[in-house]
Amino acid sequence: MKRNRRLLTTAIAMLVIGIGGQFAVRAMAQQNPMGMMGGRSCMMGNRMPQGINPGQLPDPDSEGARLLGQYCSQCHGVPGPGMHTASEWPTVVARMNRRMQMMRGGRMMIRIEAPDDNELGILRAYLEKNGQRAVDMSKLVGADTPGGLTFQKTCAQCHALPDPAQHTRNEWPAVIERMRTNMTAMGNQLPDQAATEGILSFLLAHAVK
Ligand code: HEC
Ligand code: HEC
Repeated sequence: MKRNRRLLTTAIAMLVIGIGGQFAVRAMAQQNPMGMMGGRSCMMGNRMPQGINPGQLPDPDSEGARLLGQYCSQCHGVPGPGMHTASEWPTVVARMNRRMQMMRGGRMMIRIEAPDDNELGILRAYLEKNGQRAVDMSKLVGADTPGGLTFQKTCAQCHALPDPAQHTRNEWPAVIERMRTNMTAMGNQLPDQAATEGILSFLLAHAVK
């Protein structure tokens, strides 16, 4: 029942974004051309997050995770903090907040809730704390091996190139598995088995023990 309601809300939201939102999105694009196109901060620009299962969020019981579920899944899936780095998140959060403030209270047919300043601060801090940790490949041994090169080519398509040291050797296989799901959901080409193994062994070589 709850799921149905959410689906319905999402469907209506998409419709409204399709009609009324187009003007809004365009108006924002004009105000903020940098945020909408080009640049590392907007590799996923104009693509709505597919969403992560809330149970897979870091610190799922924290206030930040709760607010993310409450406010940031009103129009699209719950965005995983790993989509952006700590330095990229503030711009994205500001863009999303403008949207929420503009649509709050159902002025545009549907009722969108918008966070207050305090909640917005908690949300931003949560995303920054758990954001993607980017890596400088020039500091990693083996960057130009086949595994290192495949890693660089495959894993920077949707977010900054992830630091292999942000996970343990035990954790990486499940993360890779989830990234394959993200690639399928977002229509990116899946690396074949040899490429996947190359990436995994590169990650494991630089992972936390
Ligand atoms: C009122 C609807 C709405 C709400 C609420 C909303 N978003 Fe979005 N979001 C969009 C739309 C539309 C897009 C696609 C256009 C764009 O990127 O601006 C989008 C795209 C995104 C993207 C992918 C684009 C990128 O730059 O990475 C992320 C990440 C994102 N939203 C995060 C969030 C977060 C975090 C929140 C809560 C603070 C949030 N959204 C709340 C409508 C919304
Ligand atoms: C098709 C787009 C896409 C590609 C390609 C992609 N990712 Fe991701 N990645 C995401 C999205 C979306 C999130 C946030 C949602 C999530 O965590 O699943 C994310 C989050 C992450 C996170 C933070 C979450 C965590 O569990 O630590 C890491 C680390 C990560 N990706 C590593 C990788 C690696 C390694 C590769 C290359 C094999 C890769 N990604 C390729 C879309 C992608």
